[in-house]
Amino acid sequence: MKLGYITAAILMVTSAVQAIVHPVEVRGRHFYDSVTGKPVINTRYDPLSDVNKCARDIYLFQQLGLNTIRVYSINPDLDHDKCMSLLADAGIYLVLDVNSPLDGQHLNRYEPWTTYNEKYMSHIYKVIAQFSAFNNTLGFFGGNEVVNDYISAKAAPVYIKAVIRDMKEFMKLSGLRKIPVGYSAADDLNFRTSLAEYLECYAGSPDDQIDFYGVNTYQWCGQQTFYSSGYHLLVRDYDKFSKPIFFSEYGCNEVIPRSFQEVGAIYSSKMSEVFSGGLVYEFAQEANNYGLVDYDDEGNVRLLPDFYSFRKRLSEAPAPPISKSDLAVINSKTGGTIPRRGDDSGDYKFCSTEYANLDVSKGLPKPAAKGIIRSFINLQSL
Ligand SMILES: *[C@@H]1O[C@H](CO)[C@@H](O)[C@H](O)[C@H]1NC(C)=O
Repeated sequence: MKLGYITAAILMVTSAVQAIVHPVEVRGRHFYDSVTGKPVINTRYDPLSDVNKCARDIYLFQQLGLNTIRVYSINPDLDHDKCMSLLADAGIYLVLDVNSPLDGQHLNRYEPWTTYNEKYMSHIYKVIAQFSAFNNTLGFFGGNEVVNDYISAKAAPVYIKAVIRDMKEFMKLSGLRKIPVGYSAADDLNFRTSLAEYLECYAGSPDDQIDFYGVNTYQWCGQQTFYSSGYHLLVRDYDKFSKPIFFSEYGCNEVIPRSFQEVGAIYSSKMSEVFSGGLVYEFAQEANNYGLVDYDDEGNVRLLPDFYSFRKRLSEAPAPPISKSDLAVINSKTGGTIPRRGDDSGDYKFCSTEYANLDVSKGLPKPAAKGIIRSFINLQSL
């Protein structure tokens, strides 16, 4: 495994942790997904809390040849030590989303000011405090597809950037390992580059620049080429992004069974100058039919045809060409030094006043939970 390069990755979700996050509503004493109507239960189990299930799945990750997985949400009140050390023993890193579909654990994309508060940030701080202890936590996603239309593109960007700032500040103040903080974006041409550029820019604090960027893209469906798929435009559009960037979801299923032809392109030299691999969506089967494996009620696993196709493509994919000097650059860029105006080191970019289709005119909100960082750190050390 070459740190910073995701040679292959996969997503885990369970019924308790929806991959596609719908609003959650309260009915009686329970939370329900407002679209599927399924109960949202997040107390007893998450994908990294049950050591037997982890062992079962990690065996399959190794069969696939993965080095990184993404998990969309966890419950920080559960114990994740055993699963994380099993993953570490298998040489597998984790990219973890710090949000969850539960009330108080994610931003409202249209009215983010109603949800950016102490309760929300203390959930995030708890997740960070727990997972920063594990060497194989590769990064945190501070948000996933929060911007997904014109309205959210007006309301949410400054709040996403504020959450990223707060996460980085928390790690710094609490003396925790500095884990890279990223954002996972819906690939919409209206803000494909503008959102990346805005989250990348220096707005006034050393902590407000994103450390890496994820792009959720489903544009390679069936038999395509680097050009017919539009991948060449992704490479062109993100060419100037100065931090690591990778596909945080891919795997179009409009043509089934999937052949995962894009895997060869993702790891080819045409792509790897700009993109550090990608995460296939998704490991466990759900109603949306992107699974590589399926479970029965007893927890037995059935490998689906896509499991075998993906494994074959991945085993044939070119080896990552990343060099030691690239890694040194990546490491220095996550170092969080304060840039000076006029410094042309290229490690940072000052924010502009305007970004296409975004509204960033109000600037970043003040930290919602600065006061609790100290009390949080005291609590943690009790
Ligand atoms: C985590 O990494 C540090 C630094 O390399 C090392 O000293 C430590 O032993 C590692 N911890 C585990 C549990 O492997």
